[in-house]
Amino acid sequence: MSVPRSGALVFYGATGDLAFKKVFPALQRMVQQGTLDVPVIGVARGGSLEALRARVRDSLERHGGGVDPVAFERLMGLLRSVEGDYHDPATFAALRRELGDAPHPVHYLAIPQALFEVVIGHLNGSGCDREARLVLEKPFGTDLASARALNGVLHGCIDERAIFRIDHYLGKEAVQNLVFFRFANTFMEPIWNRHYVENVQITMAEPFGVEGRGAFYDATGAVRDVVQNHLLQVLSNVAMEPPASRDGNEALRDEKVKVLKAIAPVDPARLHRGQFLGYLDEPGVAPGSRTETYAALELAIDSWRWQGVPFFLRTGKHLPVARTEVLVKLRRPPAVAGVPRDANHVRFLLGPKVQIGVGATVREPGQPEGHALELIADHDHEGAERDPYAELLSDAMRGETFRFARQDYVEEAWRIVEPALNVDARPAPYAPGTWGPATADALVPGGWTEPEARP
Ligand code: BG6
Repeated sequence: MSVPRSGALVFYGATGDLAFKKVFPALQRMVQQGTLDVPVIGVARGGSLEALRARVRDSLERHGGGVDPVAFERLMGLLRSVEGDYHDPATFAALRRELGDAPHPVHYLAIPQALFEVVIGHLNGSGCDREARLVLEKPFGTDLASARALNGVLHGCIDERAIFRIDHYLGKEAVQNLVFFRFANTFMEPIWNRHYVENVQITMAEPFGVEGRGAFYDATGAVRDVVQNHLLQVLSNVAMEPPASRDGNEALRDEKVKVLKAIAPVDPARLHRGQFLGYLDEPGVAPGSRTETYAALELAIDSWRWQGVPFFLRTGKHLPVARTEVLVKLRRPPAVAGVPRDANHVRFLLGPKVQIGVGATVREPGQPEGHALELIADHDHEGAERDPYAELLSDAMRGETFRFARQDYVEEAWRIVEPALNVDARPAPYAPGTWGPATADALVPGGWTEPEARP
C-alpha cells in the first residue's frame, strides 16, 4: 500500500540547539539526495526568515560539512518562517495559512518535552493537525507513568500510525545492518541462541563529558539518556526474531516489542552506576548531584532462544575511547588446548567506524598454541555514511514508520529500566579516561571484553 508523501515540513525549535546541530545539516542532505522539495517552515519566537537563513548557513558551516552552494540555494527557496510564541493561537493561525493545501504536513517538534502538550493543543485548535504527521524527539517521557501520560496527549490529537518517535540510532546504517546481517546469512541462525552464545556485551563508550549540557544531563542521567532508548534498540536488533513479513511496516516493530516483553525489569543488584570525577563542577549540575554518567547492567531475555544468556549493557561519559559495539561472545569449544579466552565471538562495531568482526583461533605452523585473530569486514566506504536525521525525516515524509519507536515499545523500555531510575545511592566515582568504576567489572563473569584487549 503506498502512503502519500508529505507536502510540507514544519519544524519547531528553529532557534534551538538540535536544529542547529542536527536538523539543518539533515535538510541540506535531504535536498542533495532529492528527498526534500516541499516547503520547509520554521516556527520560533524571534525567528524572522532572514535570521533563519543566516542560522542555517552558520549551522551548515559548523556542523553540516560546509555549505553546498547548489543545495543551499534550493533549500533557501523552500524555507519559510512563522514567527511567534508557542502559547499564542495567532502563531498557529499564521501557520495554518502558510500550510495552504499541503497534504500530510510533518510537524517536527524539536523542542523541550514540556512544550509538547501546548503545541499539540494548538495544532488541534487551529486545524494544523489535518492529515498531519508528528515527529518527536526523545526522551518520550521520563519514566513509564509520564510516557503513558504523553502518549495520552498525543493520541488525543493524532493517530499512532502518524506519530514518528525519533531515536537517531534507528537511522544509523550500522544499527539497521545488524538485523540485515543476522537474517541474510545462513551461518548466523544456527549459532544465534543459548546453545552457542555465552553472553552479549553492548558498549556505548564516549570519551567526552556533558559538553555544556549539564542542566539537561543532570536531570536525565545515562540510563534515561541512552540506555532506555539507544541501547535497548540495539539489543532488540540483536535479539529479535525474524519478522514474518514487512507488511504494513509493523511486523518488524512487533518483533522488537516481543523481545522487550520477555525482559524483566533490571534487578538493582545487577546495576552499577558511576559518576566521573569532576562532574559536580560542570556548569548546570546540582551540588552533590547523584546523577549517573556511567551505567552498566545485566538483562535477561526469557525466551526460547535466549534463556540463560546474559545481556550486559554499559555506557559512560569520559571513557577511554569513542566506541559503540556489540560483542556476541560464543561458547568455548570443549577440550581444545590453546584456545584464547576471547577468541570466539561475533562483533558489530557500530560507530564511529563500522565493522563486523568474527573472532577465531588459528595456529601457525609449528606452534603448539593457537592465537586469536579477527576476520574483519569493513563497512566504512568513503561518503557512504548517511545522516541518521536525514534518513529518518525522509522516512517520516514518506509515511514509513518502521524505523521509529512505537508507543508500546517505548512503554516496555521504560518498564525495563524503571528500577534504575531515581536511585538515591551515590554513584561510584571513576577517573575520566578509565572504563568506569572498578566495581562494574564484576558484573561480567570473566570481565568485559575490552576493545583494546582484542586482536
Ligand atoms: C544522544 C545523547 O541521544 O546520543 C547524547 O543525548 C549522546 O548524550 C548521543 O552523546 C550519542 O549519539 P551518537 O550518534 O554520537 O552515538
